[in-house]
Amino acid sequence: MKNLRPFSEKLFQKIETFRKHATPLKLGAIHFDSRLILAPMAGICNIPYRLLMEDLGAGGTVSELISCHGINYGNERTLEMLKIHPLERNVGIQLFGEDPESMARAAEVAESFGPKFLDINMGCPVNKVVSKGGGSALMKEIESLAPLFEGMRARMKVPLSIKIRTGWDANSRNARDVIQVAQNAGIEWVAVHGRTRTQQYTGLADWDFLEALNDEKKLPLIGNGDLHHPYGVSERLKTTRCDALMIARGALRNPFIFLESLDPTYASQKRSIFLGEDYWEVVQRLRHYCEETFREERTILVQVRKLIVWFAAGFPHAAHFRGLVFATQNLDDCMKIAEDYFLSLGASQKFINYDEVFMSSGHG
Ligand SMILES: Cc1cc2nc3c(=O)[nH]c(=O)nc-3n(C[C@H](O)[C@H](O)[C@H](O)COP(=O)(O)O)c2cc1C
Repeated sequence: MKNLRPFSEKLFQKIETFRKHATPLKLGAIHFDSRLILAPMAGICNIPYRLLMEDLGAGGTVSELISCHGINYGNERTLEMLKIHPLERNVGIQLFGEDPESMARAAEVAESFGPKFLDINMGCPVNKVVSKGGGSALMKEIESLAPLFEGMRARMKVPLSIKIRTGWDANSRNARDVIQVAQNAGIEWVAVHGRTRTQQYTGLADWDFLEALNDEKKLPLIGNGDLHHPYGVSERLKTTRCDALMIARGALRNPFIFLESLDPTYASQKRSIFLGEDYWEVVQRLRHYCEETFREERTILVQVRKLIVWFAAGFPHAAHFRGLVFATQNLDDCMKIAEDYFLSLGASQKFINYDEVFMSSGHG
């Protein structure tokens, strides 16, 4: 990593204040630094974002879903997605597909890129994926799961995990049966998004169902769904019997969520010690990681723009900032706009309206 500028002493100290509250977690043979894991997100969980979230307290990360067929065809863009940075500590690669032989071949290739674990996407609700039998459609074909799991296991050495939903629809919430098959086939742990495929992103994640699943102790279980703010996450951490929690959308509007959730007293105050100046440091680090990862300035600009407008959510004049950022076609200009904005915020607090719908579609 070229010239990675350390965080300022001030930000470093703030981060350490929280980090010391983290409880380490062992899943299979893997030691995670915290029970809070970054969930896979398509178009988002690439090297720069994963590195950044590990810097900001995520105990582990998972790549976006990657097509087994793209890997087997040797598609250049797909193979790019498999890359891992040497600084990444606890990263898994998530594969999707439906055919056991294709998944097993792809697993072998994916493993050669050096992830700590591989994961199977069994929760994607998107038509393009389920119509071919992948994603959450795998949960409907329970008899096909043992050959899929065993075929992949036979070709790889790192742990294999699965990420599922509670079931296909309200009448077939068969997560319990899926987990039983997974346990028999040597899957190491399961992450469960507490909704059915039919629900997509509507309603609420069913945490009673997740806790009951966990109580069966078939496999270590990571609970996921609607953990959107530090207070909610810290409350869940206090009460859950799940081994770990997975956060997706919450980390987009608050990149400090993995840290702020660790101290319940702090989280209950619902005020943040992370201010505009801290966000500006985070944005600079994001740019650095993007420049290390992507060659084309246009790609870097697109990545940086997308994330920094989410990071600004809830701060004063965020909509104006968003307009300025999207009007610029040049990375240096974009960074200047970000610097002026985040440094002008002074002691302003973020106020996010969590009742408003935020991103109601995704691949899991
Ligand atoms: C934009 C977006 C992309 C997603 N991509 C994936 C993916 O590639 N693989 C996956 O298993 N889940 C994916 N998901 C689902 C999330 O991992 C998570 O299960 C879901 O968002 C619920 O968690 P949350 O309430 O913390 O957001 C995605 C979600 C979003 C919002």
